[in-house]
Amino acid sequence: MNHFALELPCRLAAMGRRRAASALALNAVAGLTEGIGVLALVPLLKLLGIGDGAVPLDPWVFALVLAGYVLLVAATALIGRARNLTVQALTLEFLDRLRADLHAAVLTMEWRAFHQRRAADLQQVMTGEIGRIHGAVTALGDMLGAALAMAFLAVAAVLLSPALTAAALTVVIVAALVTRGLGARGWRLGRELGVANQAAMADLVDNLAGLRLIKIFAAENARAAVLSDRFAVVRDNQRAYQRAQSAERAVLQTVAAAAAAGGMYLAVFVLRLPLAEALTLMLAYGRLLQAALRCLSGWRRLTGLSAALIAYDETLAACRAASEPATSGLNPPPLTCAVRLSDVVVRHEGRDPPALDHVDAIIPAGKVTALIGPSGAGKSTFVDLVIGLTAPDAGHVTVDGALLTPGLRRAWRSATSACPQDPFLFNDTLRANLCLARPDADDAALCAALEDAAAIDFVRALPHGLDTAAGDRGLRFSGGERQRLALARALLRRPALLALDEATASLDDQTAAAVAAAVDRLRGECTVLVVAHRLSAVAHADHVLLLEAGRITAAGTWEEVRAQAGPRLAAIGMLDDA
Ligand SMILES: Nc1ncnc2c1ncn2[C@@H]1O[C@H](COP(=O)(O)OP(=O)(O)OP(=O)(O)O)[C@@H](O)[C@H]1O
Ligand SMILES: [Mg+2]
Repeated sequence: MNHFALELPCRLAAMGRRRAASALALNAVAGLTEGIGVLALVPLLKLLGIGDGAVPLDPWVFALVLAGYVLLVAATALIGRARNLTVQALTLEFLDRLRADLHAAVLTMEWRAFHQRRAADLQQVMTGEIGRIHGAVTALGDMLGAALAMAFLAVAAVLLSPALTAAALTVVIVAALVTRGLGARGWRLGRELGVANQAAMADLVDNLAGLRLIKIFAAENARAAVLSDRFAVVRDNQRAYQRAQSAERAVLQTVAAAAAAGGMYLAVFVLRLPLAEALTLMLAYGRLLQAALRCLSGWRRLTGLSAALIAYDETLAACRAASEPATSGLNPPPLTCAVRLSDVVVRHEGRDPPALDHVDAIIPAGKVTALIGPSGAGKSTFVDLVIGLTAPDAGHVTVDGALLTPGLRRAWRSATSACPQDPFLFNDTLRANLCLARPDADDAALCAALEDAAAIDFVRALPHGLDTAAGDRGLRFSGGERQRLALARALLRRPALLALDEATASLDDQTAAAVAAAVDRLRGECTVLVVAHRLSAVAHADHVLLLEAGRITAAGTWEEVRAQAGPRLAAIGMLDDA
């Protein structure tokens, strides 16, 4: 654990050496003023007529002493302010960098690796864990400030009385040893708290996303109970963590009081100091002890919260380990011949048999290929491979004979466009959602794509047209409208290959026929892969692939596939009017 507590200052320093150095220097100056304040205490009290060798009090001297006191307080406050601002700027930049690094790592993850994680877990690391790292950085600042003040106060203390200083240091060492076990417990509890928080947040996000379903099935109480159990675990963890922290505080406070009493006894009865001088010294040592205990408690808090840094590091490392390689300036193949899948196997984690099982298939360039098959046959998995979103576990995918290596796969993906089965819209304007596919598209291009997707009429009828907000995940639009908007977005790109995965599933026959006509017009202009469930779409296709249980069982023209598959097509509704 200490390894991580020590790593935090190193990382902060690595990020902004000059600012870290100036924060440290300002801390040192603040410590120095505290040391000077303490050292000046004895002569000042003498000047004021208190203690051994006191002189009669002069009003001018008294006024000067008071002015000096005001100046010292003002200087300390100014130095403190400068230190706080420097530390805060450094801290915020550090936290920003942590967020940005994790976000960048998530964005470049392999899709399948990302898909296996819960998005809510990543969200918790970006908010909860980074919040706790903020706490750790604050504890580090407190600890360093106290350590430097302690160093200067210790010098002042040695100058005042080496015997009492030795006694005070012994007390600090004893306190550190006594609370050692509590610190280790705090660290463990800190780690458990992170895990409990993650589970609770994941459920909370799930409940918010699935609220409609919860209402439909009147599952409010059941879902609330699940969440309440999760939060009970968080609460218990928090309580245990607070108990460990407050136990440590209580031990430290008791040790400090015992030290003050012991020191007083030592000063009066062993060192035989006059009571006034003994009181002055006790004041000085009280400050020293306070700084030492502040330093110790800062260290404990830091070790407790450093569990958050471990959780962050683990998540970042896992995301980076699953990152896609860079395209390294590769150009995507133009697709003039075909996309070919050879002996391809895709196995989703924890699933058997594979979703795609030794698949061989060709998608000819410039043609419309229809992919049909029962639910769960592997059609969407096939599409993800063809557009370069995922890589096969075995076998290979080629475009115009070029093997889709990890680097080329990303480049190829930028030349494709897809309308996924579950259309998603960002909570932004329709214009921004469409421009995701082609950032430089003007209104004319947007309207043409909306027209092809049979969406222009309802968009025009909206009071704010293209500037209408889509709502969370596009939920301010009906399923069919969302599907047509997603289709318009896919069409806007003018890609080398366009994949439409059940893109007209929610549309009425007339609208679906309009979309099919638009897709027909793309023939020769771009290669189209349509996952179809309508006979009309299949009958218009140049090439048909039948996928059953992860295997291509028929391929060719519609007539050829019909001849090969026969009555099996009835099960997927493909023989109605055949
Ligand atoms: N992320 C995943 N993790 C585990 N299994 C998955 C995952 N995605 C798909 N599968 C499984 O892989 C198989 C193929 O799924 P796929 O989505 O490709 O089918 P599909 O033919 O598109 O089905 P549908 O017509 O219902 O959309 C299914 O058995 C499915 O349960
Ligand atoms: Mg599917």
